[in-house]
Amino acid sequence: MHPTLLLLLLASSLLLHQAHASADCEPARCGNLTLRYPFWLGSINQTSSPCGHPDFEVWCIGDDGSSSVASLKGSTLHVHAINYTNNSFVASHIRVATGDDGVCHTDLNMSVTVALSPFTISRTNRALCFLYSCNGTEPRGPEYVNATSSCGAPIYAYLGGAYSWSKPPEIATGGCKYSYIPVLGREVAAAGMTAANYSRLLKDGFVLE
Ligand SMILES: *[C@@H]1O[C@H](CO)[C@@H](O)[C@H](O)[C@H]1NC(C)=O
Ligand SMILES: *[C@@H]1O[C@H](CO)[C@@H](O)[C@H](O)[C@H]1NC(C)=O
Ligand SMILES: *[C@@H]1O[C@H](CO)[C@@H](O)[C@H](O)[C@H]1NC(C)=O
Ligand SMILES: *[C@@H]1O[C@H](CO)[C@@H](O)[C@H](O)[C@H]1NC(C)=O
Ligand SMILES: *[C@@H]1O[C@H](CO)[C@@H](O)[C@H](O)[C@H]1NC(C)=O
Ligand SMILES: *[C@@H]1O[C@H](CO)[C@@H](O)[C@H](O)[C@H]1NC(C)=O
Ligand SMILES: *[C@@H]1O[C@H](CO)[C@@H](O)[C@H](O)[C@H]1NC(C)=O
Ligand SMILES: *[C@@H]1O[C@H](CO)[C@@H](O)[C@H](O)[C@H]1NC(C)=O
Repeated sequence: MHPTLLLLLLASSLLLHQAHASADCEPARCGNLTLRYPFWLGSINQTSSPCGHPDFEVWCIGDDGSSSVASLKGSTLHVHAINYTNNSFVASHIRVATGDDGVCHTDLNMSVTVALSPFTISRTNRALCFLYSCNGTEPRGPEYVNATSSCGAPIYAYLGGAYSWSKPPEIATGGCKYSYIPVLGREVAAAGMTAANYSRLLKDGFVLE
């Protein structure tokens, strides 16, 4: 592409972005969350015109009481807390965070899911690994926690190191298939959590930037 054309394109997309960003969105509440710039409260019906960048649109789902949940534009990602100081937020994926059997639905790749949004999964998260379809070849040891009880099929949890977007943690997997889900590193550290706390860790979500 001709460099000037490229520059023009860049400049106009920046302008567009700013036009969106400078529009006024009233701060709003959803459950225990206060939504303000860059987040804004939209709704499934969207009567008024959007007042912020579409990537930061939040739908408030529920009874408007403290149990309402904040969904990123109706998606499977739910926002739990926002830190406006360092531009990060804690979110969970409903597939693994809802109900008592989230562990049975961990066969998803969160990097791929989040890649559909403009956010990235923070390196401050830890990678919680799940081994399944082991066919009698699962690794054994105290770090591998049997999480089978609530699932129909055997599954084992293992707490790995820092979550990397593209690089699965290096662990012994035997002949198992495996997946890895980001969980809050600070919670693991503060509360001394291990792979045995997989239920709580899945529910509490992970940091996005
Ligand atoms: C959406 O519209 C329907 C029907 O007009 C209404 O009952 C509902 O409360 C609206 N929902 C929201 C979130 O505004
Ligand atoms: C909101 O806060 C209350 C009191 O701290 C808590 O019981 C409730 O679970 C919270 N709701 C959500 C959706 O986090
Ligand atoms: C938000 O992030 C800043 C910078 O990392 C930190 O100092 C502050 O404690 C955080 N606030 C909350 C509520 O976690
Ligand atoms: C921002 O603050 C939150 C809460 O204190 C923390 O968990 C997160 O790691 C921080 N993110 C960055 C990029 O520092
Ligand atoms: C499981 O192991 C058996 C016996 O070794 C083999 O026949 C079968 O194909 C294996 N199944 C899978 C899914 O790897
Ligand atoms: C894991 O737990 C299930 C039931 O909770 C049990 O049937 C199975 O034998 C256990 N597997 C191992 C390797 O201990
Ligand atoms: C998950 O997706 C990322 C990004 O596409 C890829 O690099 C990674 O290898 C995938 N992990 C697994 C376990 O498939
Ligand atoms: C983590 O799991 C262990 C074993 O199940 C339990 O004793 C402990 O209370 C859990 N920790 C937290 C913070 O939930």
